[in-house]
Amino acid sequence: MEFRKDFLWGGATAANQCEGAFDIDGKGLSVADAMPGGKNRFSIISSLEFDWDIDTDKYYYPNHLGIDHYHRFKEDIALFAEMGFKAYRFSIAWSRIFPQGDELKPNEKGISFYEALIEECLKYNIEPVVTISHYEMPLHLAKNYGGWKNRELINFYERYVEVLFERFASKVKYWMTFNEINSAIEFPALSQGLIPKTGANNFTDRFQAWHHQFVASALAVKIGKRLRKDIQIGCMQIYAPMYAFDSNPSNQFASQFKQRVFNYFTSDVQVRGYYPTYISQLLQHYDAKMPIMEKGDKELLKENTVDYIGFSYYMSMAIDETNSEATDPAAGNLMEGVRNPFLESSEWGWQIDPLGLRISLNDLWDRYQVPLFIVENGLGAKDEIDDNGEIHDDYRIDYLAKHIQAMADAVTDGVDLIGYTPWGCIDLVAASTGEMSKRYGFIYVDLDDQGKGTLDRKRKKSFNWYKQVIASNGENVIQQ
Ligand code: BG6
Repeated sequence: MEFRKDFLWGGATAANQCEGAFDIDGKGLSVADAMPGGKNRFSIISSLEFDWDIDTDKYYYPNHLGIDHYHRFKEDIALFAEMGFKAYRFSIAWSRIFPQGDELKPNEKGISFYEALIEECLKYNIEPVVTISHYEMPLHLAKNYGGWKNRELINFYERYVEVLFERFASKVKYWMTFNEINSAIEFPALSQGLIPKTGANNFTDRFQAWHHQFVASALAVKIGKRLRKDIQIGCMQIYAPMYAFDSNPSNQFASQFKQRVFNYFTSDVQVRGYYPTYISQLLQHYDAKMPIMEKGDKELLKENTVDYIGFSYYMSMAIDETNSEATDPAAGNLMEGVRNPFLESSEWGWQIDPLGLRISLNDLWDRYQVPLFIVENGLGAKDEIDDNGEIHDDYRIDYLAKHIQAMADAVTDGVDLIGYTPWGCIDLVAASTGEMSKRYGFIYVDLDDQGKGTLDRKRKKSFNWYKQVIASNGENVIQQ
């Protein structure tokens, strides 16, 4: 097995889950700031009453503090550099740059913060990989414009992207336009700013919102290429193989449908530059109307396709349409399906499937033949500090080692894989539950689910393991 010489080993975070400083230096509120912590986070947001209001008497909002990366990014990046990171994927909080989202002039203090963050990466030869919008659109746009179903958001996003590219494109080569754009089919609050009150339960709105995001993403590609010829702008999605539960043709057909709607629809548009013909099947299934398009949209999509596919990979799903008694629902990363009897699950019920990563890489490569970048992967687990003050997270090492082996196998199969930035390289707030105790990091952060702790950082056992994985360019994945 051999990874490219310039393989981008690193780690990934998102502004809303790590920065904290939610109201500092002119930052406006984002949708993430209005999401309460706790396992019922998504059910609260999915309720008909939810209105984006922040009620600190009733709930704790973990994203307000994050892990205080805003004030500690130098210390954190130094630790990433110690591990030998070649790349750091982070996101820019839109509401730091445009606090409400619809202003004409950006907030200079927000720009300065990212300027410093980028410089800090470059100081260590760490390639910044930037997500333009990672589940953190300005709250005002969700609340008062109805999120991405409103076409006006394209203009606001365009203005935001212009500012980012003008200031940073000379320093940042790798970008992604929207985090996990496909997740909206299951839960549109995070990426589209849609809640039941503003249309989340109406699939016409979700498809319309997607159309606006596709146009906005294509505009970002257009602007980026104008400013920097070798800029690399990717889409970003969840990829999770949707296996048929058994050989019953009904389940095979259901699996094909799920593959289309979940794994392929958004990338078909963003990579190929046009809507797939099977959109009629999707619209019929969800009782939705064809999105309204304006003159010029189709040409824009066609002419401004993405350069690479960034994707998160955590798990696979099994699909059982026949509702056989043999199946139980499975928990998932913004997806629905049933438990696969051949797989084990994490404590949060996510089914662990390294071979599924090899399958995913091959499927994506066969379909698109554009470079692939795994920008999230990892195991959310509880960590214990032992009597010597150490954290022996062998379960995490085991998970990551098996996935890196699967990547190597896929490279041997012929896939063009350009990088790997495992999720939450430093512990941060979980997106689905707002928990701190669901940890992914190589670096432990002393903070609990209620925001108590010193915020001190500590290297876990996986820290040194990952360091030698990077140093050997992926040769030494087995624990020494
Ligand atoms: C991805 C998101 O869905 O999964 C991240 O892009 C998220 O923002 C990650 O944190 C892991 O999910 P969770 O819910 O365990 O944090």
